[in-house]
Amino acid sequence: MTADTLAIYPGSFDPLTNGHVDIIDRGSRLFDRIIVAILLNVEKSPLFTVAERVEIAREVFSKYPNVEVDTFDGLLVEYARHRRAGVIVRGLRAISDFEYEMQMALMNRHLNPEVETVFMMPAEPYTYVSSRIVKEVVALGGSVSSLVPSLVEERLRDKKHGRATLRA
Ligand SMILES: Nc1ncnc2c1ncn2[C@@H]1O[C@H](COP(=O)(O)OP(=O)(O)OP(=O)(O)O)[C@@H](O)[C@H]1O
Ligand SMILES: [Mg+2]
Repeated sequence: MTADTLAIYPGSFDPLTNGHVDIIDRGSRLFDRIIVAILLNVEKSPLFTVAERVEIAREVFSKYPNVEVDTFDGLLVEYARHRRAGVIVRGLRAISDFEYEMQMALMNRHLNPEVETVFMMPAEPYTYVSSRIVKEVVALGGSVSSLVPSLVEERLRDKKHGRATLRA
């Protein structure tokens, strides 16, 4: 009898994009369960609080029975050990992601050889999407519909509106 395969998809998800959703959707079909693990305290000034990011991801994946949303701190491999996960999922957009991702995957293997890193490519339209570029486009007044879930688009609009009122 083989045990269920539990995968962890770690990131900052500030905010969740359709690139992330694409990878999570693929992961949910490949693994028995996948945990979207939101890293605490990485950025000093994130756009969305961790609580907001958790709420958004839970809402977006509410129809996926095998997708869980959690937060973690510290070493990813320790979190994987604690959750008894055998797989770390990472998305690869372009060659530019490769070097850093390879370094992380090999370091994580060094720290815990029992955890395997699996890379997945998103659908082509998402290969240029990152949270950072989404935030930049929104800040400059551009549209990000079709690049982020509609709930994220709404929340981005709320943030912008909130800021505009504060400044006025
Ligand atoms: N559009 C995308 N397609 C495939 N994988 C992606 C995409 N965006 C992010 N990922 C992957 O998702 C994981 C978590 O990434 P992260 O939370 O840093 O997102 P990000 O969009 O790269 O954010 P930032 O711009 O803040 O770095 C990483 O493995 C990253 O390579
Ligand atoms: Mg990134």
